[in-house]
Amino acid sequence: MPRAAIAGIGSYLPEDRLTNADLERMVDTSDEWILTRTGIAERRVVAAGEATSDLAVRAARAALADAGIDGAGIDLLIVATSTPDTLIPATACRVQAELGLTCPAFDVNAACSGFVYALQVGVTVIESGRARTVLVVGADAMTRFIDFTDRGTCILFGDGAGAVVLRASEEAGVLGIALGADGTGAEMLKVPAGGSALPLAQQVLDARQQYLTMSGNEVFKFAVRVIPKAAREALKASGATAADLTWLVPHQANQRIIDTVADRLHMPHERVFSNVAATGNTSAASIPVALDDLYTSGRLSAGDLVAVVGFGAGVTWGAAVVRWTKSRSSEET
Ligand SMILES: CC(C)(COP(=O)(O)OP(=O)(O)OC[C@H]1O[C@@H](n2cnc3c(N)ncnc32)[C@H](O)[C@@H]1OP(=O)(O)O)[C@@H](O)C(=O)NCCC(=O)NCCS
Repeated sequence: MPRAAIAGIGSYLPEDRLTNADLERMVDTSDEWILTRTGIAERRVVAAGEATSDLAVRAARAALADAGIDGAGIDLLIVATSTPDTLIPATACRVQAELGLTCPAFDVNAACSGFVYALQVGVTVIESGRARTVLVVGADAMTRFIDFTDRGTCILFGDGAGAVVLRASEEAGVLGIALGADGTGAEMLKVPAGGSALPLAQQVLDARQQYLTMSGNEVFKFAVRVIPKAAREALKASGATAADLTWLVPHQANQRIIDTVADRLHMPHERVFSNVAATGNTSAASIPVALDDLYTSGRLSAGDLVAVVGFGAGVTWGAAVVRWTKSRSSEET
């Protein structure tokens, strides 16, 4: 059976920064409150005219360049997003056209767990022998669905995209994945309007129901319970333990969640990656952006063992254990 390994990685964050000082001017909050409760200092925000597919295309181009292949070699494109350019068609189709690909393309929506879900699909297709090379992108423009009069949510989210090229290989790169969902938690985190349940109408816009609503405390408790569980399941499927990990890369939602999870998994904090201070929560982009950050800053080397773990609306969760097989070209020369 062919196995799947990560052959290329790339990411993109939009130029515009939204700092805590900016938010202090918009809602009743403070830099100190935001830093203490979340660890977030700033986030990146899409520009006027920029959409999720634009972020995805830039991340995908970087991943293709890193893998040293062009679009002709891609057999399947999967975009994980819950903030599509439009409900119809899928954002993946816009990305496919922009990249000049001719392969099948579709979206996966598992909110902030979306990248791990899409990774599972890509890995499974490669292991089945139906494809040799799959482009998996996690991209979200969360700020387009955030109510910037709601201090409970607007401090948390940012925009971005990350992508990996998965390729068939003799040795497994992606060793094990564990996914989960519990739809009874659907109300915890949602965008109430804009779908078939509550189509957009003036009344709906007046009530600001096109924006994300969240029960922050409930989400926090769910996250610190489910992340260690998902990580342990993926580690078990990979025949590894937390002690074997070079890095744990959790979904970048809140520094307090990251620290709590590190403690529950008995992981030294210096081996638990965080860039949430600079990105905020970029939803499906968060894990591939974090991985690319580690890789491009030279902190990820061939042979390292990495666990990534996401959680999000649905509620959903997912973890993957990856043997990093790539060296940076600067390390090779
Ligand atoms: C949102 C979150 C930071 C709130 O932190 P918290 O410690 O739970 O704070 P609470 O919601 O209990 O609110 C405490 C107080 O701060 C206030 N508050 C909320 N947001 C605030 C803000 N931005 N600035 C200042 N005060 C704020 C609340 O109104 C509340 O005031 P009260 O005690 O007078 O009612 C935290 O719950 C969280 O991060 N949850 C997870 C969210 C998440 O990760 N979502 C994405 C999942 S993919």
